[in-house]
Amino acid sequence: MKLGIFGATGLVGQSMLKILEDRPTFKDVDLVLFASARSAGKVVSYRGKDLVIEELSEENIKKAQLDYALSALDASLAAEFLPIAAREGVICIDNSSNFRMDEDKPLVVPEINLASIKEGDKIIASPNCSTIQSVIPLKPIYDHFGIKRIIYTTYQATSGSGVGGLRDLEEGAKGEEPTTYPYPIAYNLLPHIDSFLDNGYTKEEMKMINETRKILGDDSLAITATAVRVPVKYSHAVAINVETEKPFSLEEVRKVLEDFEGIILEDDPTKNIYPMPLNVAGKDEVYVGRIRRDESIENGLNLWCVADNTRKGAALNTIQILEKVAKLA
Ligand SMILES: NC(=O)c1ccc[n+]([C@@H]2O[C@H](COP(=O)([O-])OP(=O)(O)OC[C@H]3O[C@@H](n4cnc5c(N)ncnc54)[C@H](OP(=O)(O)O)[C@@H]3O)[C@@H](O)[C@H]2O)c1
Repeated sequence: MKLGIFGATGLVGQSMLKILEDRPTFKDVDLVLFASARSAGKVVSYRGKDLVIEELSEENIKKAQLDYALSALDASLAAEFLPIAAREGVICIDNSSNFRMDEDKPLVVPEINLASIKEGDKIIASPNCSTIQSVIPLKPIYDHFGIKRIIYTTYQATSGSGVGGLRDLEEGAKGEEPTTYPYPIAYNLLPHIDSFLDNGYTKEEMKMINETRKILGDDSLAITATAVRVPVKYSHAVAINVETEKPFSLEEVRKVLEDFEGIILEDDPTKNIYPMPLNVAGKDEVYVGRIRRDESIENGLNLWCVADNTRKGAALNTIQILEKVAKLA
């Protein structure tokens, strides 16, 4: 199998390479790495071999004769280059927001809706990082108790903005001016992720709302979101408030969460145990804690969930999709 990585030098691209190297399923896969002209010719070590970065261009995509591509490009580059690869017959799995809400493209979290991928699909979208880690605990709750309304509040790490976000945090702590964010992120919080829309929400907030409905397959879900950038390097946290259709006990909620693939419960307030970004960075699962009733309404539930945005929120999710589509796992 020949696999291309588009945007191999970025944070998500580098995370993909690390995960692919660790997974025996990819031992015999030939990799071709692509990035901008700035990176072309640079050498990356992978499984003991030196791989040379190629410039992403129509000509180089055609020359590479890929079977699959994992894309870690921004939305406008994905819009330009993925259709070129798809026309060449390459099955592309994309991290950007560009194709997520297209009616004819599946938006996939493998633990939830692999079945939405149809024979012949050439572009498969991976959801927004905060959406992925939120829908994983919401899915078993939706299936067992039904959901009327969701309120999301996110606490998102700077690596969510790629290498530029990490730079603003690290250099900002030394007094440098920001270049990625409109204000300093060190010692600060920004209630602003992606651009503002006419309805006063940010694009990031609307991505969480619309993508959650698409993945859970329920357009009637009432959802609102506030997305906040925090001075953390890796792992997003999301406080999720849910109103269920049916009554539940906290024991039942814990059980359905524990039984769901990809969730680890860390929830023992008597011992100060709850998920935190520092402990979850580098891990594959979604960590859930602070499970408690919202006592202000009849069927209300509060959860706190943390996941590594560069892994389950991006690179790992696309690699898990690829393993299923290519029947490697
Ligand atoms: N970071 C996250 O946690 C996260 C989570 C979910 C989804 N995503 C999405 O994943 C994508 C990548 O994010 P990231 O955080 O990895 O960004 P990043 O660190 O800024 O990396 C961007 C990548 O795109 C390449 N690139 C830039 N301009 C290019 C051009 N003109 N031609 C070809 N390649 C070009 C860069 O190559 P050079 O090094 O050569 O410039 C680099 O490899 C984005 O769509 C993002 O929204 C990110």
